[in-house]
Amino acid sequence: MRQHKKIINDDAYSILTLDDDPIITSTIQAYFQRSGYRVDVENDPYQAIERIRQGNYDILLLDFLMTPICGDQVVERIRQFNRDIFIILLTGHKDMVPPIQTIRTLDIQGYYEKNDRFDQLELLVESCAKSIRQLRTIRSYKDGLSSIMDSMPAIHSLSAMDRITDSILHTASSLLPCLNAVLTLDNSYYHPLKGTSEMRTFTSRAVGQNFIAPTSQEVEDRLLLLQKKSSFVQDNQILLPIVDRSELQVGLFSMTLKEPPKHDQIQLMEIFIHQTSSALSNARLHTLLQDTNSQLNAAYHQLQSSYLEMISTMRKIVDTKDPYTRGHSDRVSYYAFKLAQRLGKDSEYCERIRVAGLFHDIGKLSIPDEVLTKPGRLTDAEFQIIKTHPKNGAELLSVITLFQPMIPAILGHHERLDGRGYPNALVGDAIPEEARIVAVADTFDAMTSNRQYRKALSFQQALDELEHSRGTQLDADMVETFCRMVQEHEFWVKMRVDMSDCAPTQMISERAH
Ligand SMILES: [Fe+2]
Ligand SMILES: [Fe+2]
Repeated sequence: MRQHKKIINDDAYSILTLDDDPIITSTIQAYFQRSGYRVDVENDPYQAIERIRQGNYDILLLDFLMTPICGDQVVERIRQFNRDIFIILLTGHKDMVPPIQTIRTLDIQGYYEKNDRFDQLELLVESCAKSIRQLRTIRSYKDGLSSIMDSMPAIHSLSAMDRITDSILHTASSLLPCLNAVLTLDNSYYHPLKGTSEMRTFTSRAVGQNFIAPTSQEVEDRLLLLQKKSSFVQDNQILLPIVDRSELQVGLFSMTLKEPPKHDQIQLMEIFIHQTSSALSNARLHTLLQDTNSQLNAAYHQLQSSYLEMISTMRKIVDTKDPYTRGHSDRVSYYAFKLAQRLGKDSEYCERIRVAGLFHDIGKLSIPDEVLTKPGRLTDAEFQIIKTHPKNGAELLSVITLFQPMIPAILGHHERLDGRGYPNALVGDAIPEEARIVAVADTFDAMTSNRQYRKALSFQQALDELEHSRGTQLDADMVETFCRMVQEHEFWVKMRVDMSDCAPTQMISERAH
């Protein structure tokens, strides 16, 4: 008789043995139990079918010739709901074996001619157990891989380190049956913004029971064990290194399992921790990047607000440099804003126009005072200098991103529809709409303000002039809308309130009464 050999396996395989002869079933049960299998017996074919339906058996050993139904009929019924169980058919005589076709169709793994020795049968059962073990390994590996895949979005989510480490621990503890899982990371890696100290210190996060946070020395010792290794197993514990992009050890992952890990489980954890390392590395870079970004943003906002402050001061200087143009930008801004509203523009557009109006002449900063405030007519050369102000203004403001949308209005506010304007002599619709709006407002305010070389026109004269410039200098529709607007008494009443703290225009006192 074959020497009984204790089968070394992870979980005992369960066998159901079915024969209408109780002596046979109890003999088989005794024999296989000694080999480490878990064996149940059944002498009624119908009951056996039900037990397989309810229970969790790996192997069925059944007699072929039975009453009231034969073994092949039993198998046929079982196969309708269970394709996984391994089946070995026991026959009394070789002539009684069912045809090979039936054996194939019913997916019967083997048959055994009964005799007083069970070693042949034991070989068959061992071969089934081996296949079952392989199938189980493949299945658990596949399940593990799909759990890893499922966990990837959370782990790679670039959220806070704490959340990522929690996701990692949660996934790891669902991959293998474990008592605890501990993720330990170098503090300078875990908190990349806190700076580094000479001695490495570590932070551990864990799930499960019986967990003691390792000391820094213990972590260093374990990392030494993991030098150039992707895992280290000691009894029920598995250790895996966490490495950064340059393969430097930045932490470790340890798991205390319920039993010593199998080869495929170690492999699975290696795959998972490799993924984890790269997710942590990404999250760390993301944190660093976010911090650099927020520092940059803060610096940028600081820069922007101080530049804005400077530009606003300069704008006031421009207005005060020439007493004749005092309040001009404020009024142009107001007229242009109101005109944009009348033209049905949305609030964002109107706001853009308001700011463009305020800064439209900022380029005059670079024009010498003697030219800017010269009484009387300008020479051609002096006028050429004046003509540089839209371009200078656009350049000055282009430094601030915030002003980018206003540049077209500022650059184009002295363009004319007939192409005789400056700086680019644009024609008609080629002049940006915002510039055309500011141009109407600018022209009206220039005409209705006293200048060093002439007195302000009356309201009616200004309207006539605007009318006259329709289609040649200014946009005809815009002029029409503007004239209608400023002819309303309420417009001036409102302007007096709205601009109470700005240099007034003669127009307000004339028209608001
Ligand atoms: Fe101007
Ligand atoms: Fe102007």
